[in-house]
Amino acid sequence: MPVTVVIGSQWGDEGKGKIVDLISQDIDIVARYQGGANAGHTICWEDKTFVLHLVPSGIFHEGVKCVIGNGVVIDPVAVMEEINMIRDLGYSVEGRLHISHNAHLIMPYHKKVEEARERWRDAGAIGTTGRGIGPAYVDKFARTGIRVVDLLDRDVLRKKLLLSMEEKNAILQNVYGAEKLDINAIIEEYVEFDKLIDPFVTDTTDLLCSALRDGKNVLAEGAQGSLLDVDFGTYPFVTSSHPTVGGCCTGLGVPPTSINRVIGIVKAYSTRVGNGPFPTELLDDQGDELRTTGGEFGATTGRPRRCGWLDLVALRYTSMINGFTDLAITKLDVLSNLEEIKVCTGYKVNGSSTNRFPNDIRTLEQVEPEYETFPGWGTDITGVTSMDDLPTEARDYLTFMSDFLGVRASIVSSGPKREQTILC
Ligand code: IMP
Repeated sequence: MPVTVVIGSQWGDEGKGKIVDLISQDIDIVARYQGGANAGHTICWEDKTFVLHLVPSGIFHEGVKCVIGNGVVIDPVAVMEEINMIRDLGYSVEGRLHISHNAHLIMPYHKKVEEARERWRDAGAIGTTGRGIGPAYVDKFARTGIRVVDLLDRDVLRKKLLLSMEEKNAILQNVYGAEKLDINAIIEEYVEFDKLIDPFVTDTTDLLCSALRDGKNVLAEGAQGSLLDVDFGTYPFVTSSHPTVGGCCTGLGVPPTSINRVIGIVKAYSTRVGNGPFPTELLDDQGDELRTTGGEFGATTGRPRRCGWLDLVALRYTSMINGFTDLAITKLDVLSNLEEIKVCTGYKVNGSSTNRFPNDIRTLEQVEPEYETFPGWGTDITGVTSMDDLPTEARDYLTFMSDFLGVRASIVSSGPKREQTILC
């Protein structure tokens, strides 16, 4: 009854979509456990590219069931758009996609409050994706949230929406000086979701635990990355959920003892979108080159991603928290043209070296990275499918990373397509 968890080990955008799609072939159920439509999981095959924001990346394998767990915050408009896109592509969704009745909803007022709050914070803004994620989780924990199950009862939904929106309107107007929402229009729009969403709603915890009892394999798909975790990330420049391994248990209702594999997805360099400290960031031509070669623009917002060298101090920290059993190293091909490649192996803080990742951002903002330099491999490795076909320099780079972290690399990605992969 094993659960494999796939987790971003950096600041998100590590290429989880491709890896989940790849390993879904041997899996019975793929389940998303946190986040919302702030995620953008890109999948490429046969010259087609698809971006999924909410539906798990296993949906393109007909034999696989997909679950959106209780820990996810769901925008009903976004989920229905995605379901329709998948149907239009010719894939079945009914009977394959299951949405937790306990998942919380993102409503238009969450986006409005987020927009107003980000504007109000001004220079201290988080740089969110604007999808209403933070305010939806605030309502969840303030116990004023609206859940998927509420969509199925129009009277309950009306009452809850009215109460919530009266409060939000007071906040929008009186705190942020923003425009009020049209309460009736929103209620009338959202009561219509009952029939649309009903075929997908179920007790997903029961579904997952029964499947595990029957010996089925479950793949838990994390969104964002460990350094954006609300507890373990670079707070406050984080998302409002738990991308780290604990989020899998609370976001799906599966026991920790059912997890037997934790795959850390590591991009061969670092990127970050939004604000917050990023010790190995490259603010020069080298950073621009990585951005262009790696296509480092947000899959959800289109924002250019900040780029930098691989940070093994940060990775050792996220590996420690998550207990990675394997690494999947992505985008190694992007480094093909570089003459030399740097890797951060320590930080200098107030004149002393440390290999500990500081857990307060004021220190992290001040650290100076200490680098080891590796020679580039001077040849394009895009599409290589075997370790033996990798140049020695590329193999050395992988070995150094894996030895430093004490975790074996079981997958190396050499391009965006499914087949551009080395299974080690
Ligand atoms: P939020 O999740 O929209 O609240 O944004 C909070 C922070 O997380 C911002 O810095 C976002 O850019 C970042 N973020 C959210 N989702 C993703 C993602 O899927 N990939 C990378 N960064 C993300």
